[in-house]
Amino acid sequence: MAEKKDFLFDPARNPLYRDDYRPTEYKIPAVTLDIALDETETVVKSRIHVTRNPALPDTGGALVLDGEGLKLKSLKIIENGQTRDLDRSEFVVTDKNLILKNPPAKPFDLEIVTEINPTENTTLSGIYMAGDILCSQCEAQGFRRITYFLDRPDNLATYDVTLTGEQKKFPVLLSNGNGEPAKTVDNGDGTHSINWKDPWPKPSYLFAVVAGDMHVLEDTFTTMTGKKVDLRIYVQDGYEDKIKWAMESLKRSMKWDEDRYGREYDLDCFHIVAVDKFNAGAMENKGLNVFNVKYLVGSPEVSTDDELIDIEAVIGHEYFHNYSGDRVTVRDWFELTLKEGFTVLRDRQFTEDMHSKEIKRIDDAVGLRSAQFMEDAGPTSHPIRPDRVEEFDNIYTGTIYEKGSHVLGMLHTMMGETTWRAATDEYFSRFDGQAVTCDDFVDVMQEVSGIDLTQFRQWYNQSGTPEISYTGDYDAASKTYRLTLTQNTPPTADQSAKVALHMPIAVGLIGQSGKDVPLALSTDAAGEAAPTTRVLHLTEASLTFEFKNVDGPVVPSILRGFSAPVKVTTQPSDEELVFRMAHDTDGFNKYEATERLMVKTLHKLIKQAENDLPLTLEQGFIDAYGENVKNALAGDLAFNARTLGLPPYNIIIQDLKTLDPDAVSEAIDFMKTTLAKTYAEDFKNIYTATAAPAGEAYNVVPAQVGRRELHNTALGFIGKLETPDAALDAVAQYGHSKNMTEKLAALGVVTRMTDKDAMTVADKLLEDFYGRYKDNNNLVDKWLSLQAGRPADGALARVQELMKHEAYDATNPNKVYALIGGFTAGNPSAFHDKDGSGYKFLADTIIDLNDVNAKTATNLAKRFTQFKRYDSDRQALMISQMERIMAVPTLDIGIKEIIGKALDTVEKKPTNDNARKTAPARKQG
Ligand code: ARG
Ligand code: ZN
Repeated sequence: MAEKKDFLFDPARNPLYRDDYRPTEYKIPAVTLDIALDETETVVKSRIHVTRNPALPDTGGALVLDGEGLKLKSLKIIENGQTRDLDRSEFVVTDKNLILKNPPAKPFDLEIVTEINPTENTTLSGIYMAGDILCSQCEAQGFRRITYFLDRPDNLATYDVTLTGEQKKFPVLLSNGNGEPAKTVDNGDGTHSINWKDPWPKPSYLFAVVAGDMHVLEDTFTTMTGKKVDLRIYVQDGYEDKIKWAMESLKRSMKWDEDRYGREYDLDCFHIVAVDKFNAGAMENKGLNVFNVKYLVGSPEVSTDDELIDIEAVIGHEYFHNYSGDRVTVRDWFELTLKEGFTVLRDRQFTEDMHSKEIKRIDDAVGLRSAQFMEDAGPTSHPIRPDRVEEFDNIYTGTIYEKGSHVLGMLHTMMGETTWRAATDEYFSRFDGQAVTCDDFVDVMQEVSGIDLTQFRQWYNQSGTPEISYTGDYDAASKTYRLTLTQNTPPTADQSAKVALHMPIAVGLIGQSGKDVPLALSTDAAGEAAPTTRVLHLTEASLTFEFKNVDGPVVPSILRGFSAPVKVTTQPSDEELVFRMAHDTDGFNKYEATERLMVKTLHKLIKQAENDLPLTLEQGFIDAYGENVKNALAGDLAFNARTLGLPPYNIIIQDLKTLDPDAVSEAIDFMKTTLAKTYAEDFKNIYTATAAPAGEAYNVVPAQVGRRELHNTALGFIGKLETPDAALDAVAQYGHSKNMTEKLAALGVVTRMTDKDAMTVADKLLEDFYGRYKDNNNLVDKWLSLQAGRPADGALARVQELMKHEAYDATNPNKVYALIGGFTAGNPSAFHDKDGSGYKFLADTIIDLNDVNAKTATNLAKRFTQFKRYDSDRQALMISQMERIMAVPTLDIGIKEIIGKALDTVEKKPTNDNARKTAPARKQG
């Protein structure tokens, strides 16, 4: 439960509580929309059927509809077959609601006509113009910007939608459900119309409309029961030859969901549209997914391997929502992880099955640890099912999505694939067409698996990253090994008291020969199988497990496969890590052993840098790393690339008490340079050996993907030395590569060089790149962020200069994240400049964006939330910028929530002029 404690309170901050969920007294089971589309004057005629909620006693209360930024043109009621205008005395319109004071007792209809201006809508929520395409985004609360409605996920309605628009401007007219996009009705006045019917009741957040002049790629998919589904992908001019991969990905997704989850598609057609301006990655509107162009358009010539795999994953994600989200939806937004955590797990499993399972697992674990763990440790920490929220758009987080998926991943591990499938089948059939909760989901899991999940449910309530430590004790006489596992979740900003969780910890014991020993617990019956990896159920603060028949001392390998979203705090000796680097049979732990040794070594270097000591790399580390270099061409090349590259920045800094960005950069630089020098010849050999064989056809298959990755990693080390030869290698790769994976990596290597001549070369390549690709928005984004991340002085001035470039557009989130995000995240030394210029720049940008697109501004504002990791001077500078943002009178509530939570964690002496007051007692009811 949320701790409803008093908190430093800004009266404008108005938290909502999960506990306060109440069903509505009225329901809208059916809606008919007649939309006359226009760039500046779109008129929406909505006819809603209103009934009483049969589940509630009839109290005859007012009907309260949501609406925001709407111009109400007319309001009629239809009862007993009679239509009449409502009198002004019968309803109230506020800036948030349309209230019908005394609704009739019997079911009735309302006809509401509203007008909106898509061109002026820069929030990208509701109906807006993305360039020449008119489109919509309704999750979480955008439908209320289109018409007055019960804009909440527990109201499920069927939609009958008629769209009318100018034939020339909007030749394609799309909405959800079944329809024939090629067969519009000519109205004889330059406009045409089309009707769309969605038979599946859905919440308003899944409504979508798209209109514009677009190219289409058509295909079909035959479902498991032999139904033919028409597939269409729509894009703007210039992208039409780059959507084959997307179509193939869609067909793979549809097939996979049948094979692995038994889910068959349920409409006659499935449509995807890509738009240039979009607040998120993509959206699962029923039968009409809308995508950010970044996650749909892609081909080997213009996309990297990682991007192609990402595109496939996002297409899978949105498609899988058709069941986990659309057919079974959420009761309210606090339950968001019900659909998102589940769907992320499904898309992760999909990628595992399509590509390399081991690499995907490592990447997902590294991703969670580098991003979500930071969120858990900062001022915006929250459980996967939050209890208190100020702005629902702020819960689309790594915690709800990624941690949520790992929580379900634990259930999958505990239940096994067969039971998991039986339980998910039962979930989909029991709750089909309903809006439900995480508790409903876990109930089914418990019922079908027979596993008591009482304690496991705490994962939904508790925020923070559990810390696991372990000790082992071998007794030669009895040949037993006793392993004690201990858990502890440190307090978080939102929650001080924590409980012990139920978590599956997969462990292995590696014998001195380097081989895994068979694991038999003393409690096992005789003859029971003794596998080499066992899942132990840690259910208490501390538990000891005793293994029998262990023939000699062992090295424990804990949390194999990242079996729980936790942090292992026990720090093994360097020798033990080196041993596990060589022998661990578990991919994640083998990777993690190298990562840990690198982070440990980097921390020593950072200390040296902070104390102005000469930096030195221990020979033991250089040698251990040398083993990875020596074995780089054997086995899985993608895995090897991960053990050669340095860990992600966030993993390096995660456990530092105070963070000096200059010292961190110096340490990273020194380690990379030293390794590059020591193993210069080996890297050159690896580089040569991983060049693409002449005539090879490009394919996104693990062998090729891994080889290209290792090739680029080697080039990164070669380039680090900034020799003329290295620059030549990179320039050559940039020039001759036909695929973007190698081209972009080469460009990246050159743009990170600091030598004067190399920088001139980089300028030339960047110019060439822009000239070639200026019509491809995704590549222009790369171009912006590469420049924002360039080292050397004057980075901020360069970014400010680029904000005036034709390539930049403050109303396009992708551009903002590429340039401003590329600077704040990709250029830590410049962003954290001691003079505070980076912080001031970020605050200025957030304040400007507040009036344009507050969601983009909110995401940028999160950059400030890690302020406590820095020295007191930098903290003070960041705090003063956050206070400047908070003082903006029209500040968006989402930005206010993020910055407000950050400032809530600042110890403040109460003063008279402190505007923040103690919270008044919360109203009950
Ligand atoms: N449901 C969408 C997805 O996961 C994301 C919607 C984002 N909406 C938002 N308000 N941030 O694919
Ligand atoms: Zn999703």
